[in-house]
Amino acid sequence: MGEKIPLPLKKGFGATDRVDAWWKGPSAMAFYLGFMVVYATWRGFMEADFWIFEDFGRSAGVGHGNGTMSIDNNGSHVLSPLFSPLIIPDEYSWMPEALWWLSPAMFILIFPAGFRGTCYYYRKAYYRAFFQHPTACAVSKPWNEYKGETGLLIVQNLHRYFLYAAIAYLPILSFDVYLSMRFEGGNWGISVGTLVLLLNVVMLSGYTFGCHAFRHLVGGGSNHWTGDSGPTLRYRMWKMSTWFNERHKEWALYSLFVVMFADFYVYACTDPMFGWTDYMLWGG
Ligand code: FES
Repeated sequence: MGEKIPLPLKKGFGATDRVDAWWKGPSAMAFYLGFMVVYATWRGFMEADFWIFEDFGRSAGVGHGNGTMSIDNNGSHVLSPLFSPLIIPDEYSWMPEALWWLSPAMFILIFPAGFRGTCYYYRKAYYRAFFQHPTACAVSKPWNEYKGETGLLIVQNLHRYFLYAAIAYLPILSFDVYLSMRFEGGNWGISVGTLVLLLNVVMLSGYTFGCHAFRHLVGGGSNHWTGDSGPTLRYRMWKMSTWFNERHKEWALYSLFVVMFADFYVYACTDPMFGWTDYMLWGG
């Protein structure tokens, strides 16, 4: 048995021999993810019938909230992706009255939030940014034991199931793009909001198709990829997924920005405080 050689690592929170600005990445990530979480939570509550927002004059109350969920224009709807699919609690008789204060976002955000929260890339990012577990490569962290993703973190194994929900979102969000183009009398039109929703579908697709679990779903458990059309199709899908997977970090971060921007665009076009207009580019 060989002798144990301790690694010459400095001890103490943040202690390291590294001379590069190793802290920049985790700090920027903490700011970025923290901002996005706070924004999504704020928007979710904004359309809720919740007492504190009544005091601010922002409560769903009578008639479906502040109307900042969707730009309604001559029969077309540019619906914010944070509120899609639209479930308005008091419109469903099966929903207990005690839940009517919830905003539509609270019913559906659990799926995208669960998908991103259990994503392999995001796990690495927020373990470092928020929990210092680890702080960074070759940087001493506040606690030393490492138990892997056991205990409560076993919930991360649900990622593949959140993937199924994320896949189901793609046609739903695509349908929202369609609804943004249909106007009264069967007319068609395209506004800036349509393009924003379309960009969101593209970004979310790139993020979803590069998911490690998706790549395993289409290509895993098989070493027979030629011959019949079935195996060939799987091979092609696996190749496509691999391309996205190699850029998963970028799709993860940019798609998060786009979904929040799409919501902010709808918010800014519907709240007089901003006074934005959803300009028509064609038809309508
Ligand atoms: S690993 Fe990132 S979405 Fe699945």
